[in-house]
Amino acid sequence: EKGGYGTFMEKEIHDQPKAVEDTLLGRTDASGRLVLDELRIDPDELKGISKIIVLACGTSAYAGMVAKYAIEHWVRVPVEVELSHEFRYRDPIIDDSTLIVSLSQSGETMDTLMAVRYAKEQGARTLAICNTNGSTIPRESDAVLYTHAGPEIAVASTKAFLAQITASYLLGLYMAQLRGKLFQGEIEDILADLHKIPAKIQEVLDGADDIRQLARDMAQAPSVLFLGRHVGYPVAMEGALKLKEIAYIHAEGFAAGELKHGPIALIDEGQPVFVVVPSPHGRDSLHAKVVSNIQEVRARGAKTITVAEVGDADVVDYSETVFYVPETQPLLMPLLTTVPLQIFACALAAEKGYDVDQPRNLAKSVTVE
Ligand code: M6R
Repeated sequence: EKGGYGTFMEKEIHDQPKAVEDTLLGRTDASGRLVLDELRIDPDELKGISKIIVLACGTSAYAGMVAKYAIEHWVRVPVEVELSHEFRYRDPIIDDSTLIVSLSQSGETMDTLMAVRYAKEQGARTLAICNTNGSTIPRESDAVLYTHAGPEIAVASTKAFLAQITASYLLGLYMAQLRGKLFQGEIEDILADLHKIPAKIQEVLDGADDIRQLARDMAQAPSVLFLGRHVGYPVAMEGALKLKEIAYIHAEGFAAGELKHGPIALIDEGQPVFVVVPSPHGRDSLHAKVVSNIQEVRARGAKTITVAEVGDADVVDYSETVFYVPETQPLLMPLLTTVPLQIFACALAAEKGYDVDQPRNLAKSVTVE
């Protein structure tokens, strides 16, 4: 049942090309237009939405952060992302033109369920992006978009995360199509690039021996920092969470722009720092700014490990190790840049002899508040 792998987590990391492919499957009609019939929500209602609030916990909340960058860019509707357990205990501004998008692998996370119930009571429309058919959160939501990652057994989420990001892109593109915010040709181009992602994930998986070797070499590291910017920021957060969860190593993710506002004080000789580098084809100057962050931490003695787009020569001089991922649109990069970080955490935990699938103190789905 582990498909020849030693652990479910390894298997699920390797299931990711299929998880993304299956989540994309059957979402377009013969003319290439997105059809999300299963949403069960009136397209006119989606047209009238004035604000989206994404609610989730843990890894799912990082998928929500990626969703924000994509949906705001494509749909031009404001998107807030909030941890479910914080949302309910403030006084959030919600009305019937607010769309709540919950993200949950299990569909049973109590914090997210309670937040969705609360939002419904306040009159919001609710849409669940979920990996578990018939679970409670989609049952209680007005609309549902299932991710098709297949059952995820390891406590640490991997393939569900990539599937959630994929489904968020589909939702964003669908809303952009409904609201006429992108040309049909632009939507088709993005979808075509999405369909190329599974083969690119496979390339990352096939070239992962160096990552596993690095993990073995770094098994004694007391702390690891992760930096990213734009959609690389949630990827950095996710890389840090994976390492905390299964390898019990102190790890922090930061937005690279925050470095000089505090975290750079942590850098001294030998401190490992992973940097998720934005695409050199993305927003002007973002790539250059992150490259100078790499220089800054390196100059203070950090051991720099970068995850960059293939062909990015600018990072080489300042990186002790570079992991390249294939090229794609800047907004789609998390589907590729996350993978080396998952493999790293999984290999490091295995090297330390820990139970990768059942880390201490954690449950697969958190059904208490
Ligand atoms: O089932 P959910 O997606 O609602 O779960 C949310 C979090 O509990 C979950 O992502 C958790 O952070 C995982 N252990 C991450 O690996």
